[in-house]
Amino acid sequence: MIVAANLKTNLTRAATARYIEEVEKFVATNAITVETFVFPATTALDRFKTTVTIGAQNAYPVKNGAFTGEIGLEHLEEFGIQTILIGHSERRHILGETQEQIAAKFAFYKERGFTIVYCVGEPLAKRQEGNASMMEYIDAQYAGIDTEYDKLVIAYEPVWAIGTGLTPSSEDIASMHTALKEKSSAPLLYGGSVKVNNIEEILKVKNVDGVLVGSGALYTEHFTQMIACAQAQKLHQ
Ligand code: PGA
Repeated sequence: MIVAANLKTNLTRAATARYIEEVEKFVATNAITVETFVFPATTALDRFKTTVTIGAQNAYPVKNGAFTGEIGLEHLEEFGIQTILIGHSERRHILGETQEQIAAKFAFYKERGFTIVYCVGEPLAKRQEGNASMMEYIDAQYAGIDTEYDKLVIAYEPVWAIGTGLTPSSEDIASMHTALKEKSSAPLLYGGSVKVNNIEEILKVKNVDGVLVGSGALYTEHFTQMIACAQAQKLHQ
C-alpha cells in the first residue's frame, strides 16, 4: 500500500521542510507501515531526515549540461533522491511532453535504478468516445515503457478527475485497474481528486494498491489522516 503526495507548484522550501517534519513525526509515532512518498517542488528538495520517500516531480534525462531551467541526475544525487514522477498529465498536457520524451526520461532514470512513479490517464473526451478509443489512448502511454521494471509504480489518473473534485465511480476505477493490471503487475495507484472523505472507498476497490494525491494532501493534517486510513485498511486486509 502506497500513499503519495504530489505537492506540485505549492509550498515553499520552508513550508515543505515543516510539512515533511510533521509527516515524519506522524509516521514514526503511529508505527505506520504503509509506504509514504512526498514529491516536493524542485526548490524544496533536500536531504531530509525521514523514512518518508522523497521524490522529484521532474528532472531532465541527463547528468548535467546545457538545459536551461531543468535539473539533472546530479541535482537529485546531491540529496540522495532515487524516486521520480514521470508522465504526469500536467507535464503531458500543459508542458507538452511527448511520449517519446517521456520514454527517454523513463529509460534514463530506470538505467540509474530510480523508483519510477509513472502516470497514465485519459482526458474526458477520450472516455466519452467509448472504451476502445479510451484504451487505445492509454495504450499509447505505455509506448517505450518497460512495464516489467522492478522499481515501477504506475498511477492511473484520469485527466478530468485531477484537481476537479470529480472522481470516477468505484466500478469505473475497478474496471480500469483490472485492465491496467494486465499490462503490468507493478503496484497501481489511483489519482485524481482523492480526499480525506473518499480515500477509504477508493482504497477498497480491487487492484487499487494506493493513491497519488495532489490538492487533498497540501495540508499535513489531511495527508496524515489519509495515511492513517490506508494503514487501517492494510491491517484489515
Ligand atoms: P489532485 O491531483 O489530487 O489535486 O486531483 C492528483 C495528481 O495530479 O496527482
